[in-house]
Amino acid sequence: MRIDRHQPLILAFVAALAGLPAVAFAAGGETHVEKANNDIHNEASLQRGAKNFVNYCIGCHSAKYVRYNRVAADIGLTEKQMTDNLMFPGDSPHATMTNSLQADDGKQWFGVAPPDLSLVARSKGPDYVYTFLKSFYADPTKGTGVNNLALPGTAMPHVLWELQGTQEAVWEGHPDAQGNVQKRFREFKLATPGKLNPEEYDAFVRDTVNFLEYIGEPVQARRQELGYWVIAFLVFFTLLAYALKKEYWKDVK
Ligand code: HEC
Repeated sequence: MRIDRHQPLILAFVAALAGLPAVAFAAGGETHVEKANNDIHNEASLQRGAKNFVNYCIGCHSAKYVRYNRVAADIGLTEKQMTDNLMFPGDSPHATMTNSLQADDGKQWFGVAPPDLSLVARSKGPDYVYTFLKSFYADPTKGTGVNNLALPGTAMPHVLWELQGTQEAVWEGHPDAQGNVQKRFREFKLATPGKLNPEEYDAFVRDTVNFLEYIGEPVQARRQELGYWVIAFLVFFTLLAYALKKEYWKDVK
């Protein structure tokens, strides 16, 4: 059979594809990344996330590619809900989500200017951002009093500490090939509880990340919905073409 000659090639190709994720994972080393499990189709979560962003992030971070009225329309808020809950008095609904922090000031205050967050969930991935916001731990050697497992030495203070509480990192020693002991992360321990319990804090971060993923590609939800229609049309069109073909060939036979 003809296919037999190609079989080893096909098998090799499939094996190579199957191996890809393993290689990518190995390259990532032992980095600790948690799944955000957010859902950009969940409007209530996007609304909570937008509120979290405005209350806790916009003071330092802008989202300069996003307009308030576009956000409101996409996540199901009326213009009034939007002006009451998301905007500073006097801002125009057509304004982009920016703040009055100048890049130079940000750099001076924190050492690193807080980046614009419009595209952060696309460039770094929602799982990374979720993990980052959950990985601050007490480190008295740092100016901010915290360090971050996902971004060691980060200049960002733990702005959500009142909600999460403070956590400590627990390390364990592992001897390497040379016999030197290497410090390896084991787990976080909640040292002082915050206003939210751990499940509530996870949900808070998940909503915030959901909003960041949405602003990274505002048409994503609609694009996916449109996809179903496109597929439905293609199926319908295939059936139509098939019926037509049968009709044409009926008389030829
Ligand atoms: C007090 C100012 C401040 C606030 C408020 C703040 N951040 Fe930051 N953030 C920073 C600074 C400064 C950096 C740059 C950190 C660095 O590169 O070390 C940063 C960096 C980040 C990054 C990029 C991390 C990376 O890997 O490059 C993300 C994501 C982020 N912040 C998310 C948030 C979110 C979400 C909120 C709201 C819950 C928030 N930040 C609130 C100051 C702030």
